[in-house]
Amino acid sequence: MNAKKYPLRLHVNGETYELEVKPQRTLLEVLRNELELTGTNEGCATGDCGACTVLLDGVPVTSCLVFALDAHERQITTIEGLGTTEALHPLQRAFVERGAIQCGYCTPGLIMSAYALLQQNPQPTEAEVRHFIAGNLCRCTGYTKVVEAVLAAAEVSEQ
Ligand code: FES
Ligand code: FES
Repeated sequence: MNAKKYPLRLHVNGETYELEVKPQRTLLEVLRNELELTGTNEGCATGDCGACTVLLDGVPVTSCLVFALDAHERQITTIEGLGTTEALHPLQRAFVERGAIQCGYCTPGLIMSAYALLQQNPQPTEAEVRHFIAGNLCRCTGYTKVVEAVLAAAEVSEQ
């Protein structure tokens, strides 16, 4: 295992962070353990569940599969970058109001995927929402309320 650390500059939610990390560190590990941005969850750590989804230069990625050094100088958006407790993002509010959250473990990843979808397609169909969030697994909700919440947030954004 390589013990040497390398310099890393990350741009996360509008803030710049200067770090030194080992090459085997994942973006997920750095976000959670170094930057204490623990809103991004680790589920499987093998790219299968989507709980760790963040945006990398606007594109949703599973951060457990991205080496932190590959994110050098790139723009990262995590769930902490969307809204605050006092001022929820429309997607966050819709998830709460529509009952799309149960245990909540999948929720940050789902919201980041939905956010990426609405950025590129502000008025998606139900089928498009289901297709786009297919990589985000939820063992609690059955997805119906999640899809309703994303469609509701799209409506709000349109007004
Ligand atoms: S923790 Fe990254 S996809 Fe499951
Ligand atoms: S709300 Fe529990 S896994 Fe999705």
